[in-house]
Amino acid sequence: PFLQKGDIVLDGGNAHFEDTERRQEELSRSGIQLIGCGISGGEKGARYGPSIMPGGKSEIYPEVREVLETIAARDPRGNPCCTYIGPGGSGHFVKMVHNGIEYAEMQLIAEVYHLLSRQFSYSEIADLFEQWNKGDLSSFLLEITVRILRKKEGRDEFLLDQILDEAGNKGTGGWSVKAALDLGSVNSMMGAAVFARYRSSDPIRKRLGAERTISGGPEHIASTGEIDPNVLENAYRFARIINHYQGFELLRQASNTYRWHLDLSDLSRIWTNGCIIRSALMQQCVSWFADAETILDLPDVREELHGLEADVSSVILRGHENRVPLPAFSTAWNDWVSMTTGQLPANLIQAQRDSFGAHTYLRRDDLEGKPHHTNWEADD
Ligand code: 6PG
Repeated sequence: PFLQKGDIVLDGGNAHFEDTERRQEELSRSGIQLIGCGISGGEKGARYGPSIMPGGKSEIYPEVREVLETIAARDPRGNPCCTYIGPGGSGHFVKMVHNGIEYAEMQLIAEVYHLLSRQFSYSEIADLFEQWNKGDLSSFLLEITVRILRKKEGRDEFLLDQILDEAGNKGTGGWSVKAALDLGSVNSMMGAAVFARYRSSDPIRKRLGAERTISGGPEHIASTGEIDPNVLENAYRFARIINHYQGFELLRQASNTYRWHLDLSDLSRIWTNGCIIRSALMQQCVSWFADAETILDLPDVREELHGLEADVSSVILRGHENRVPLPAFSTAWNDWVSMTTGQLPANLIQAQRDSFGAHTYLRRDDLEGKPHHTNWEADD
């Protein structure tokens, strides 16, 4: 009732992009425009400049451009971390995927911390993360983790030890995974991160009880195989690239499906500052996407991942030896190996589908031909 024709509403919350599109449609009937404006940066961003992702009608953007670009954070070249994203709910969609990437980035750091804490003290882990944060692995999330690991309560107690290990969520990670399922995009890292949060929310008593029954408690878990921080650093580098690959693939596929014409290089640019997933890798993405459609189209990146692959296997093995779950690392490795394996067992899946449901299959010797069906029970 407070709105009138010609008004522009900016929705700066984490709305689902389909709700945004429905609201845009409804409001436009009264001559009111809605801009679905993804905003990232938390409390600090709100005060010192966030990353802003406005989506809606392109002809409306010039009306709000100045105010948004003035309050936005600045990228390394001094340009605002705000750009017109695209039509409809695209602004909220990209913010949702930002959060999906954020979930997986947080999960990876949590897994590294979990594994390292079997053999290193919090201050040693903080020192290591501080070291990593000086080079190509630097990120806002790693930076805050160093501070978290050092935070004490009283003289000797670490605050982290008092925090209940049940991760909350407000839904945007799950939305991203659902969007990936809808679009047929592989987003196993976000999925692993969301499910790890859900699993952590099993009642702690239940988990503790099960741990005691299965292994006799943490003191009985044999810690074998020394964890080499340099190997872990490489595995972390690898898994972050896969996470960014998967996240941006979801955006690219959404852009194609919904005809949003997203500019992934410019999008990476507005995520280089102000937002939660700002990092040296995000700065790298700006130039990667200027040169290629996907990160893995770049031969240098493929070569780098290939070179790091063995270190990821070794970290996953250390996880097994120390009974530390590493869902995000494992799925990063699995997806990379699947992507780079010529013969997957999907031929068997196709045969099973055809056997029980006559779903048909394509033959290698007849790729352009019609789907084939076999009577699997007939004697040859
Ligand atoms: C940001 C954050 C923020 C985000 C929550 C995630 O970019 O500033 O992504 O918008 O939505 O921090 O919350 P949950 O972890 O509770 O889902």
